[in-house]
Amino acid sequence: MRWLRFCVAALACAAAANAQSLTGRWEARMYQVDEGRKMVLALTQQAGAVTGYMQQPNSTAVAILDGKVAGNTLTFAVERPGRGARGAAASTTPPAPVRTEYSAVLQGDKLVMTMPSGPGGGGGTPAAPPAGTAAAPPGGRGTAAAGPGRGPGGPPGGRGMMNPMEFSRVSTAAPGALPAPAARVTLTSYTPVPYNGLAKTPPMGWNSWNKFQGAVNDANVRGMADAMASNGMKAAGYVYVNIDDTWEADRDAKGMIRSNSKFPDMKALSDYVHSKGLKLGIYSGPGPFTCAGYAGSFNHEEQDAKQYAAWGIDYLKYDWCSGGTVYANDPGNPSKALPMTEQAAYAKMGEALYKSGRKILFSLCEYGDNDVGTWGAKVGGNVWRTTGDISDRWESMVNIGFGQQVGREKFAGPGHWNDPDMLEIGNGGMTTEEYRTHMSLWCLLSAALLAGNDLRDMKPEILEILTNKEAIAVDQDKLGKQAVRVSPPVPADEAATISAKEGRSTTGGDLQVFARPLADGGRAVGLFNLSAATAKVTAKWSDIGIKGSHKVRDLWAHADRGAFTDSFSADVPSHGVVMIKIAK
Ligand code: GLA
Repeated sequence: MRWLRFCVAALACAAAANAQSLTGRWEARMYQVDEGRKMVLALTQQAGAVTGYMQQPNSTAVAILDGKVAGNTLTFAVERPGRGARGAAASTTPPAPVRTEYSAVLQGDKLVMTMPSGPGGGGGTPAAPPAGTAAAPPGGRGTAAAGPGRGPGGPPGGRGMMNPMEFSRVSTAAPGALPAPAARVTLTSYTPVPYNGLAKTPPMGWNSWNKFQGAVNDANVRGMADAMASNGMKAAGYVYVNIDDTWEADRDAKGMIRSNSKFPDMKALSDYVHSKGLKLGIYSGPGPFTCAGYAGSFNHEEQDAKQYAAWGIDYLKYDWCSGGTVYANDPGNPSKALPMTEQAAYAKMGEALYKSGRKILFSLCEYGDNDVGTWGAKVGGNVWRTTGDISDRWESMVNIGFGQQVGREKFAGPGHWNDPDMLEIGNGGMTTEEYRTHMSLWCLLSAALLAGNDLRDMKPEILEILTNKEAIAVDQDKLGKQAVRVSPPVPADEAATISAKEGRSTTGGDLQVFARPLADGGRAVGLFNLSAATAKVTAKWSDIGIKGSHKVRDLWAHADRGAFTDSFSADVPSHGVVMIKIAK
């Protein structure tokens, strides 16, 4: 009898759920830090079919496709324009749209939607990630960064989005048609921004993203500053403590940007970081919102630059992300910005920083899409990303470091540097040997050295890698000449591709030698072995442009190896490096 009563009740509930039409406007809080941003589902249900649209703040609404209700479960899909491959791997063929499947369950009067991982998921912010991750090449726009966490060992914060998202119905009226997208802005020119005098050598410091993503806050930033000031990193040259995405709140009534509850007092934080003899960095972008969907600087560039100056900010990373939702895209490839429009959008902030009354290092992040090396310095940039997001995997580091940097040497020099993305050293996804390779290559490439691990909790061998003064001296060499790959030589047909796309898109073989001249007349050379077994790697003097007998010092063993004529060979472990300095 009890059993029968239960069945009747359950059936009645299911029937009621079925009977309750989902028609109306539903809204859900988007972020773990509540900034009042809402995701909207505008639904019209007719029998088992659902139509309408999904809209995230400041983003173009996307139509609901194949919407169905079965029992108390709603399923649907949306399609967003694909972003295609980034940087060197980009093609001129417009990328295919990316489809994301969603499912939500009606629980009482709430629709509870579990965000899919990957495209359109926890990282599926209104910005690029929803559309880009699936199409990105390995080492391209971080698949690892797209989900709510960052793979095993990732922070709980992810991009800081709620998962699941709980929608409440705010109206039962049938929503209107899909809102038309706003007209895009085209910019046709800009005045070059004067050099700010910073980054005479590549910037060094720490950035929150690789380890913390949405979990960055005032306390852990202070912790990083404490660690950096006392663990030998500051002494080795690290100075910037950079907050990446997810610090932003909405703007006040006057349009001034505010920090969210994770950062209660940005000025006090900068005072604290400065009191340690360090500098504080922050993050924004030219679009209306950042890659994680927080407020961007679109139409607020001057206000933001002034606010950063007032807070005592010393470094700005400026990330394109939603730029393509407000600025004109290339009609031939909607995943790419129109080149002049993009440059001018960056120049707006470059100019604003220049006039802000404070020296603020300007870091461009447009993933190497639009030949950034040719104009980065003109818009005031001191450093510019050349690729999609790195992740803490050997393949990602190789794809970015060996696969997409060769050919960009001509754009680097004092004041303006290529940026193959932040370091993953110490985040746990590579071996110590592989991290040494990562550090050596970044130093040879004159890359920004921004540690991306938890500095408060690091194994001695990781600290040793990050603070190898002899390797750092190569990165920070005053001549500022980025290393070229001298062996194997770049084949002629690839050289043609390099001039068209700035960088190579293949990794160039198992055994590679990179070399750069140094201010004291010496040479820094990396002998790399990307293969699965120990191998002998040789640096030939003729490849490096030197002759005769030269003294060689091993920069990881910290040992002089004697004088060598014509070449230097070493047995290099699998995935490892021997990094040497050849004296004048
Ligand atoms: C993009 C950038 C990353 C990081 C995130 C933050 O993916 O390339 O380096 O700044 O945005 O959302």
